[in-house]
Amino acid sequence: MHEKVVVLDFGGQYAHLIANRIRRLGVYSEIQDAEMPADQLKSYKGIILSGGPQSVYDKDSPKCDPAIFNLGVPVLGICYGHQLMQQLLGGKVVPGKTKEYGLSALRIKQPVGIFRKTPSSIKAWMSHGDTVEAPAGGFEEIAATDDCKNSALMDPKRRFFGLQFHPEVTHTEHGMDIFDQFLAICKVTRDWSIEQFIEEEIKSIKKKIGDKKVFLLVSGGVDSSVCFALLEKALGKKRVYGLCVDHGLMRKDEAGQVKKYLAQAGFENLHVVDKSEEFLSALTGKIDPEEKRTIIGDLFWKVKEDEAERLELNPDEWIMGQGTIYPDTIETGGTKHASKIKTHHNRVDLMQEMINAGKVIEPIAQLYKDEVRELGEKLGLPHAMVWRHPFPGPGLGVRILCSGEEKTVEFKSGSDYHILPIKSVGVQGDFRTYRHPALLMASAKEDNERTATDLVNSNPDINRAVTLVGGNFEGKAAKASVKKCFVTSERVRILQTADDIVTRVLHEMDLYGAVWQFPVVLAPLSFNGAGGESIILRPVESIDAMSASAAKLPWEFYEKVSAEILKDDRVSAVLLDVTNKPPGTIEWE
Ligand code: XMP
Repeated sequence: MHEKVVVLDFGGQYAHLIANRIRRLGVYSEIQDAEMPADQLKSYKGIILSGGPQSVYDKDSPKCDPAIFNLGVPVLGICYGHQLMQQLLGGKVVPGKTKEYGLSALRIKQPVGIFRKTPSSIKAWMSHGDTVEAPAGGFEEIAATDDCKNSALMDPKRRFFGLQFHPEVTHTEHGMDIFDQFLAICKVTRDWSIEQFIEEEIKSIKKKIGDKKVFLLVSGGVDSSVCFALLEKALGKKRVYGLCVDHGLMRKDEAGQVKKYLAQAGFENLHVVDKSEEFLSALTGKIDPEEKRTIIGDLFWKVKEDEAERLELNPDEWIMGQGTIYPDTIETGGTKHASKIKTHHNRVDLMQEMINAGKVIEPIAQLYKDEVRELGEKLGLPHAMVWRHPFPGPGLGVRILCSGEEKTVEFKSGSDYHILPIKSVGVQGDFRTYRHPALLMASAKEDNERTATDLVNSNPDINRAVTLVGGNFEGKAAKASVKKCFVTSERVRILQTADDIVTRVLHEMDLYGAVWQFPVVLAPLSFNGAGGESIILRPVESIDAMSASAAKLPWEFYEKVSAEILKDDRVSAVLLDVTNKPPGTIEWE
């Protein structure tokens, strides 16, 4: 068993980043519910209290068990966690007048404790909301900014630390050094590594599976493919049956590519079944993104059952495998205070029942994406496969926007932006939104990030902003129309072709590695009565998909891609999504 550090989750999307940073420093870290009783936390060598969207004064704001402060374990409170620790230990927290985010210059007053390796001044990503007016007994101020005293507090005797800023975000300088010193103070053994994980997980897979076999659905994405390779390594070819259900919503030639890559690395018991017609007909008439996700998830399940029956797999001999990774279990609402952003397809009800009954093995469910990639490389999978951009399980099914209505809106002349008659998913203040995108009238060549952020923050009807890269219509965009349509094989092909152009040009221009993920989205939207549809380009930079920024690529890239996409006369506009996450999400649905 590893020595571990726990992150108590108060609902901030950054709880994952904290756990991931701790693991990068060689210590296994996991996320637990904020209210977990202290006696269940005794085995941890350190406790980190995460940030969260609420104020400690909000009526229902989450609290931790105050007894954790008597465990004799070092505690690091971050932002909300910092304020809560002060409130619970007798400090005075005062409500902030304004809540603003940004980088501040932090002066380290004492190079002690968690600041032992930090220079005397660093840029820190602050979240000014409530502030600590008077620290609890035993605490001293060890850092401050011009606007905020007590930005960092320490109780050296009890080994408690509190930070008003976020050391886990990359914008904060020396954030990793701060965590590194906290771990040193925890005196925790640094024995977490992927090599170690492989060794232990192989043992654990063998133990869990016994003399049974595993039936695994391989979606075509990195996670399930790596999971398949790991299971095959642990159990051998004969005891792992990989099934790739081609739901017709994969990228162009994707199923074939995955099979080829896995075979290259010596993993080969993967079978592809084409079920595209079933999936497309189940999606007919559906518009709501959550409903589409559930339909795809449930049908996956049914296909799996049918296949198991066809292959005459005796349920007493076979266990179901899944390539679920750590954030998947949390994004669905795996901890109490992380609000449900969307239902993950690995966690639809039927699957959850099986998991609860112990009939599922999820060997990489502890890992973050970067760790899954490292694992893939270590298992010998080709670099090009492991570094493919993430692709959602429901595939293009959540990148084809549908509409049950026909509508045209005229744009008011002279306005800097116009609200478009379609909707997409976003995430604001830890909650999911389903709102309209706005079309910015500024040139797509400009840097529109600031305008997009300000616009979304100030207008409750909008959760993203797009610019126009190219279009097959006359004049300036003066009206937008949405037409009635659902997921069809023709629309899938339009999107697959556009998506393929994007991937190819990214490789040609050596830009593939410069973006973390690049969803290409099809929307039943056209301008100035041109008919046809729009393709939306959504390149993002991210570390772990929890937050992301709109990637900035050279204009020549967009020009080239747009010109090629517009050769398809069913597409009349190419748009570029310039929204960060939050307030947008990476996907549009
Ligand atoms: P969002 O859109 O929430 O996406 O910013 C974050 C990351 O998760 C992926 N994603 C999914 N992956 N099943 C998956 O396997 C899903 O239902 C799903 N929805 C989003 C998305 O592609 C991005 O990498």
